[in-house]
Amino acid sequence: MSTAAYLDPSLPVAERVEDLLARMTLPEKVGQMLQLDARDGVGPLIEDKHVGSILHASPENVREAHALTEATRLRIPLLVAEDAIHGHSFWVGATIFPTQLGMAATWDPELVERVARATAVEVAATGIHWTFSPVLCIARDLRWGRVDETFGEDPFLIGELASAMVRGYQGGGDTDPTGVLATAKHFAGYSETQGGRDASEADISRRKLRSWFLPPFERVAREGVATFMLGYQSMDGVPVTVNGWLLDEVLRGEWGYTGTLVTDWDNVGRMVWEQKIQPDHVHAAAAAIRAGNDMVMTTPQFYEGALEAVAQGLVAESAVDDAVRRILTLKVRLGLFEDPRRPDVARQQAVIASGEHTAVNLEIARRSLVLLSNDGTLPLAGGLTAGDDGRAVAPAGSPGRTVAVVGPNADDDHTQLGDWAGASGQADWLPTGHPREMTATVLDGFREHVPGGWTVTHARGADILTLEPDPEGAFFPDGQPRPQVVVPASPDDALIAEAVDAAREADYVVAVVGDRIELVGEGRSTATLELVGGQVALLDALAATGTPLVVVVVASKPLVLPPSARDAAAIVWAANPGMRGGQAVAELLLGLVEPEGRLPVSFAEHAGQQPTYYNQVRGQHGDRYADLTQRTAFAFGEGLSYTTVEYADLRVQDAVVGLDDVVRAQVTLRNVGARAVRETVQVYVSDAVTTVTWADKELKAYRKVELAPGETAVIDLEVPVADCTLVDAAGHRVVEAGDFELLVGPSSRDEALLRAGFTVKG
Ligand code: NOJ
Repeated sequence: MSTAAYLDPSLPVAERVEDLLARMTLPEKVGQMLQLDARDGVGPLIEDKHVGSILHASPENVREAHALTEATRLRIPLLVAEDAIHGHSFWVGATIFPTQLGMAATWDPELVERVARATAVEVAATGIHWTFSPVLCIARDLRWGRVDETFGEDPFLIGELASAMVRGYQGGGDTDPTGVLATAKHFAGYSETQGGRDASEADISRRKLRSWFLPPFERVAREGVATFMLGYQSMDGVPVTVNGWLLDEVLRGEWGYTGTLVTDWDNVGRMVWEQKIQPDHVHAAAAAIRAGNDMVMTTPQFYEGALEAVAQGLVAESAVDDAVRRILTLKVRLGLFEDPRRPDVARQQAVIASGEHTAVNLEIARRSLVLLSNDGTLPLAGGLTAGDDGRAVAPAGSPGRTVAVVGPNADDDHTQLGDWAGASGQADWLPTGHPREMTATVLDGFREHVPGGWTVTHARGADILTLEPDPEGAFFPDGQPRPQVVVPASPDDALIAEAVDAAREADYVVAVVGDRIELVGEGRSTATLELVGGQVALLDALAATGTPLVVVVVASKPLVLPPSARDAAAIVWAANPGMRGGQAVAELLLGLVEPEGRLPVSFAEHAGQQPTYYNQVRGQHGDRYADLTQRTAFAFGEGLSYTTVEYADLRVQDAVVGLDDVVRAQVTLRNVGARAVRETVQVYVSDAVTTVTWADKELKAYRKVELAPGETAVIDLEVPVADCTLVDAAGHRVVEAGDFELLVGPSSRDEALLRAGFTVKG
């Protein structure tokens, strides 16, 4: 019997795809367009619905799915997908890195690329081909529950880090067996929520999309990200899933994108039961196909709906063929017909949580920590050095110290990992999460790293919350579980007293506060940004003891900190710092490593200030509320070191430049302190007069510079004039000739920036 053409790897991809398409029945084609939830078992999905892809498959289900697919009529390989978004999230014992927001605080694309590479290597060994990462949404309203999944508030930084992550995931490309498909999500504008409410209608014009929301997506589209996920929300009344302008004109038209589109969870069904713009699943399926969706995530009714839609003539079978052709092309290009990339136990043992990956995890955890304030208490005891075993060594003869490590997040491994990891709720096959011993909490970190002769004590001090069933019912209309309702815990006098005693008997008190995963994620936006439960009372009581108080914020997003924290000796923000996070925090506080992180997102003084992103459009009346200024507590780009770097002598080389030129400048940096530093030199551009209202300044470049104590360096900076753009009233991105300023310094704060003018000739 001769081999079917589609199975012959020597033939061109298109020829193989057409051969296979011609052999497929309509049900098989519609099935290829479906990506269904494997948590309830895979048999019916593969045998009855002929699905092209599955997600949320336990290791056992992945193995079964691969085997069942082998036995199907045409043996079309499956695409197995998962949210491996900061490490292989739901593989027991995988390396869990800081969340994307934590990674963003490093401002280091090369490091983020290494994290994504390590993740892909672990994921690929487990029979999974596709990760739903990175998130390119812009964090704007901090009440939104998914701020932790973003790279923060700046489109340029998002573009830099997202493209690095895509490169890391996709590795050597289609045929690299250690590569996984990356996903640019959630296209586009999903984060522009109203009131921070998840998936609410995004009030966002096309011009505004082009100005800030689309550029990071365009960047990764042009860099070859394999797939795009379409956001839940609608804009101007049109859900993204059926938004012809966004999908056809912009993505596939202007950007020439030829990759695969996947809807978000039940986007097609939501048009029926939630947004109510389609009468039934038949019409919804027809609309989704006509709009050019390739893969439909978790709308099981799409199967019958699409068959009926073709039968009724609501959509042509050729439109189904177009989508299936794109999916099959991807599968052929990946070589899955020859090697379906099944789980490989030997490889898993070699690569999952390998020493190499753990080292990358520790590096990114250390470099993600942001020192927000410091009165000189940090590093503790003036700073220690690390011994050969990694434990701090105190100078001979120095007194032993006691550190009280208190607070509800001091020893909470789950909060430290954050959402989309272990038992965070999306996967049901690891109910207790990742092995406890793999995560070093802040308490563990101190116990393992203080010098001999020091004492570490602990008290929880406060609870954050309890949960109650949602009175609306346990499930949404589509059968998905409704998150339980958070009830803030009351301050507990006994817990506080225990922590206060510990603080009184200590030389330092390290209070680890923040949020918990019940306050994070889809459907878990928060009305408040304040510390929930007994935490403020705890901090107030600790501050009153007079023991130097270091506040460590382990939180998914910027929170509003009370006066007792703002006046503390020091504040460190750790995001959700991953498995090595507690070690990194202890090392930082003990002075074994230098603080390097810079905020990728601003911290508010008050939830009512939302939104607080730095690059707001000019033109409001005044710049304050009657009862509060609009000044943020900590601004985009801020972060301290254990030394001081002075900026001076900003000089622009050519003060008049043409449209094709590069603005070149130099600035002098001087490390005037006693410790080494890796400084993040930030370069913003401000356009003096614009034909449309525009942001007063935007990040256009940055450089990492290492300076030894006392070292002075003259740093070259470059910004192509072509990057000094705005989006005009007609929606075109242009450079408008005229006067500009280059703003250079250690953060986005006006008072921290040196300024130098340049003029662009028309
Ligand atoms: C819904 C989320 O919005 C998306 O980010 C995720 O990838 C999918 N569910 C799959 O879990």
